Amino acid sequence: MKIGIFDSGLGGLILLKSIRQQLPDYDYVFIGDTANMPYGNKSREEVLSAVKKCIDFLIDKECELIILACNTVSAEALRKLQDSYLADNYPDKRVLGVIVPTVEEIARDEDIKRLGIIATPRTVDSQVYIHKLAELRPDIIVYQNAATDLAFQIENDNQEKISRLVGEYLEPLIAEEIDALVLGSTHYVLAKDIIESYLPKDIKIISQDNIIPQKIKLYLDNHPEIESRLSRKGDYQLYVTKSNAIYEKLNSEWFGGGQLHEIKL
Ligand code: DGL
Repeated sequence: MKIGIFDSGLGGLILLKSIRQQLPDYDYVFIGDTANMPYGNKSREEVLSAVKKCIDFLIDKECELIILACNTVSAEALRKLQDSYLADNYPDKRVLGVIVPTVEEIARDEDIKRLGIIATPRTVDSQVYIHKLAELRPDIIVYQNAATDLAFQIENDNQEKISRLVGEYLEPLIAEEIDALVLGSTHYVLAKDIIESYLPKDIKIISQDNIIPQKIKLYLDNHPEIESRLSRKGDYQLYVTKSNAIYEKLNSEWFGGGQLHEIKL
């Protein structure tokens, strides 16, 4: 059995890269629902219905554990999936999101008092980061900004627009004198260098490629009943619902050019 990684696109691919660096022995199946991206500008119902198809696909591909490497889906659909869809259809499978592990890491950092978050409109509207942080660190003041078009421009590798948008979206957060900035969409990990170039040096960047791999490792250490069912051939398969040249390029740069398929769901 394998580990499934879901995202609307490139954010999940860069998380898969960092997860494989830390946990290279397991077998992975990635699905990027590129035909439906950006998820962050869709309604909650649309997000839920799109992600269910991807979960069915990953389970059909023998995934035992699925990582929703997408903040938007973790914010808007994870709880519903766990409480009803999974429980009704695949009670022995596990689906994990990326927001709670990220919030746990933020909460451990005593130096953070003023936190900025850029995320998709859906994630910002859900207020999940604010609610979860309030449970662990009510002293942290949170400032959010919806980066409406950023994930889409990253997916399309439009460097000029990415740079302009990053400046626009960060400006109000920097003005609030934040101590740390959460990249609240996995897509933004791909723009980390540009984001760094706009941020004053004393503002920490909280990036999920540095957090999620170790959290998965911890989860597997704590759940031997799941870990023991995972196969270990160091294999991976990549699927997208609409192909785009950047996937071919990153597949060879990051993974050595293995299997990449376009599928219809
Ligand atoms: N990567 C997704 C996230 O972390 C968002 C991209 C999208 O809007 O599709 O929120």
